[in-house]
Amino acid sequence: MSAVVVDGLTVHYGEVLALSSVDLRLEEGRVIGLLGTNGAGKSTLFNAVMGLVAPTRGRIEVLGGASLDARRRGLVAFVPQSERIDTDFPVSVRDVVAMGRYGRLGITRRLRAEDRGAVEAAIARVGLSALADRQIGELSGGQRKRAFVARGIAQDARLLLLDEPFAGVDVTSQALITRLLHELRDEGRTVLISTHDLAGVPALCDEVVLLHHRVVFHGDPASAMAPERLALAFVGPDGADAAHAPSPHPAADPAHPLDRSGEHR
Ligand SMILES: Nc1ncnc2c1ncn2[C@@H]1O[C@H](COP(=O)(O)OP(=O)(O)OP(=O)(O)O)[C@@H](O)[C@H]1O
Ligand SMILES: [Mg+2]
Repeated sequence: MSAVVVDGLTVHYGEVLALSSVDLRLEEGRVIGLLGTNGAGKSTLFNAVMGLVAPTRGRIEVLGGASLDARRRGLVAFVPQSERIDTDFPVSVRDVVAMGRYGRLGITRRLRAEDRGAVEAAIARVGLSALADRQIGELSGGQRKRAFVARGIAQDARLLLLDEPFAGVDVTSQALITRLLHELRDEGRTVLISTHDLAGVPALCDEVVLLHHRVVFHGDPASAMAPERLALAFVGPDGADAAHAPSPHPAADPAHPLDRSGEHR
């Protein structure tokens, strides 16, 4: 069974075309990177898979059924690009992670020992045990991302959708989340993750989708990172300004913002 099948998906916001005839088949047990410029349609694709935006045209199947059905069964976890949370709202890290269990609670709607165990285990996996009682609004941005990843783990979802989980996250948190995503993948789960950290893509992803309102490439990371492919995604199919496409080989360019090799010199 495929994790996600997208067939001829077109999404408009009023007059704005966000996605145009997107076809995509994502197999289970893979970490799939979703790359593209600001405004390329990455968040729109996540929202469409979640059934949160209505397509103009096209069809989406999640784990063999309708997206709403997969969500109702708790099979899909979503970490949106920005969680709109009221920082004064008194919910702890533990409360947030426990939300991952709500879909599977019985008629009493109370957490059982098994649920509590899953919540604590998920908090431990993201390294937040010491902060479990802290209010979510009192965490740093990176810690908060980890808390939302923990919610997805507690949920025991088959498909994890992570929209820029590394934005504003330090290298330690990024390494921790990356390791965790590989573990989840090795358990047979599917991870679709958008990122602007091109330098981290080869180590993170099993495959890459380059998106520019439509799918311009889907395949192995090394091929995706070829300059002419990246240019398609980052400059557009007409290649008007290929000179400014990001370098796929940041180590070769010490002045490049993505260069991390300086640490090792
Ligand atoms: N709620 C909205 N109303 C109107 N237009 C929107 C809305 N959300 C997104 N858009 C537009 O749809 C297009 C795709 O946006 P989307 O947020 O999916 O891009 P993205 O690839 O996630 O970008 P980023 O890297 O900045 O997060 C853009 O042109 C954007 O301006
Ligand atoms: Mg986005």
